[in-house]
Amino acid sequence: MFTNVEWDVEDDEKLHISLFGKKKKKMKDKSIKVHDHSSIDPSLTKVKKFKLSKRLAGDKSIKAKKDKKSVDFQIVESPRKTKESKSSALADKVAKKMSGARFRWINEKLYTCTSTDAVKLFSEDPHLFTLYHQGFREQVHQWPLNPLENLIEYVRGLPPQTIIADFGCGEAKLAQSVPHTVHSFDFVAVNEYVTPCDMSNVPLDDSSVDVGVFCLSLMGTNLVDYFIEARRVLRLKGTLKVYEIQSRLSSIDSFVSQVESIGFKLTGKKCLNKLFIDLEFKLRKKSVPCSSCKDITLKPCLYKRR
Ligand SMILES: C[S@@+](CC[C@H](N)C(=O)[O-])C[C@H]1O[C@@H](n2cnc3c(N)ncnc32)[C@H](O)[C@@H]1O
Repeated sequence: MFTNVEWDVEDDEKLHISLFGKKKKKMKDKSIKVHDHSSIDPSLTKVKKFKLSKRLAGDKSIKAKKDKKSVDFQIVESPRKTKESKSSALADKVAKKMSGARFRWINEKLYTCTSTDAVKLFSEDPHLFTLYHQGFREQVHQWPLNPLENLIEYVRGLPPQTIIADFGCGEAKLAQSVPHTVHSFDFVAVNEYVTPCDMSNVPLDDSSVDVGVFCLSLMGTNLVDYFIEARRVLRLKGTLKVYEIQSRLSSIDSFVSQVESIGFKLTGKKCLNKLFIDLEFKLRKKSVPCSSCKDITLKPCLYKRR
């Protein structure tokens, strides 16, 4: 009995099929006259079922094998592409490659310039921010886990009166997912939840926040400025959460000692999976002499070309 059929539109009139037996052995090649084109769905792809009706296939051998009104086949190959669909697929591919390349360019820029230069970049062309976030969303879809979801779960467990500052909030998904007061900061306001600013200088009073978060937002070459700003707005004993890509840390210990040098104390460390780490600090000192502050460094996170 035939179980599979590979098919291809030979021309407007004919359907070329290869019939396979149960053991996937090729049994026959056939060209079938097509009487009713409207019954052939050109979008049929690899594993969709296709009912090849007897009316469509004036093929004696098929009739002999199955005595039903229609015969079920497994589609193995999609129909040969027309010139138009080929060129639109090519245009899609080129557009995808270009937006991927632009995303990688903006991403690299953000990791390797100062936040002042990033502000300039986005103020000259705010569309770059949209492009960046389109690309970032695509990256997130490929991850088995999005640390932002862990952050949301963490905040949901906090007392409802807790005040949070989300530094580098992106689309402010945290603020939209929890009942708490969340101040969300990013270079560009993509919606009404976001306050546009450089997070090294946010419009919040000193010691006005209980929890500060950096969720994958430690970009730029002046990371220490962000931690100093977080220290300013956090109340003493307030919490600072850092969700990062583990491979950005040359060593966890040296990163922790850099953050601790400006007044924080590590209170929690959790690897979310092989990719991401969740570090929790408490604010121990509101001020530290500059001479004892270390610089804070992380490796840039550069995405590979696919
Ligand atoms: C990788 S995205 C992550 C966004 C969000 N936290 C999330 O987890 O979905 C990093 C965000 O941090 C923002 N960011 C980085 N440095 C910043 C700065 N100095 N000031 C404001 N936003 C900054 C970027 O613009 C970007 O939107």
